[in-house]
Amino acid sequence: VEQDLKLSADGSHTVYSRQFDEHYHSLHGAVSESRHVFIQAGLHYASALFNPLSILEVGLGTGLNCLLSCMDPSVAAIAVHYTALEAYPLEPSVYSSLNYPDTFGGKDAKPVLNRIHSLPWEEESSLCEGFTLLKQRIKLEEYTTTRQFHLVYYDAFSPGTQPELWTSEVFAGLRRRMYPGGVLVTYCSKGEVKRNLKKAGFRVEALPGPPRKREMTRAICP
Ligand SMILES: C[S@@+](CC[C@H](N)C(=O)[O-])C[C@H]1O[C@@H](n2cnc3c(N)ncnc32)[C@H](O)[C@@H]1O
Repeated sequence: VEQDLKLSADGSHTVYSRQFDEHYHSLHGAVSESRHVFIQAGLHYASALFNPLSILEVGLGTGLNCLLSCMDPSVAAIAVHYTALEAYPLEPSVYSSLNYPDTFGGKDAKPVLNRIHSLPWEEESSLCEGFTLLKQRIKLEEYTTTRQFHLVYYDAFSPGTQPELWTSEVFAGLRRRMYPGGVLVTYCSKGEVKRNLKKAGFRVEALPGPPRKREMTRAICP
């Protein structure tokens, strides 16, 4: 098996990747990290500015960011289009055991998480009312689109593991696909990553990080 389920400190699951020798989330709390970085610093910022709202996630993984986004009250009244890229999808035995529906959202979360993983790749489908999901089984490096985004969840493995995904060239490519005023959020707060974002033309903010992490990064398109 390439992927193992692990419990993080807040009781929610994360996954360990043997291929990359890295966990999908902070071991100090997977749901806590996702909520803090992607939902609070990203979705709440962008959903107050844009409707319809177009989101790109780099690394669908467990589907946790997509699940939290779809169930977030801030999107109840707006139309969301969510594109998720994933180069190495989770095995069914792993995603079907994720405990997210038990840690939040109750019975409503379970069918949504199941749909995130069972919906076909490369097709737009309705995930829940007003929320369209397009999963693409592709590497970011090979991804092309005519779509523009307001919000990017940048959730690749860390620069130590995947240095090729944190360069100014990659960020410049993303920026060209983003609307003015659009926002990219990531858990990573490395100096070099912030410099590469700036080089790509983003305005970069360091925000307080999730539990046990000093900072996270939010980058805004001028
Ligand atoms: C840190 S994990 C986060 C996953 C997900 N956001 C979550 O909450 O579970 C990184 C994800 O990026 C995927 N990935 C790795 N390299 C990629 C690439 N070149 N293009 C797209 N996705 C990639 C991995 O398979 C993994 O699912």
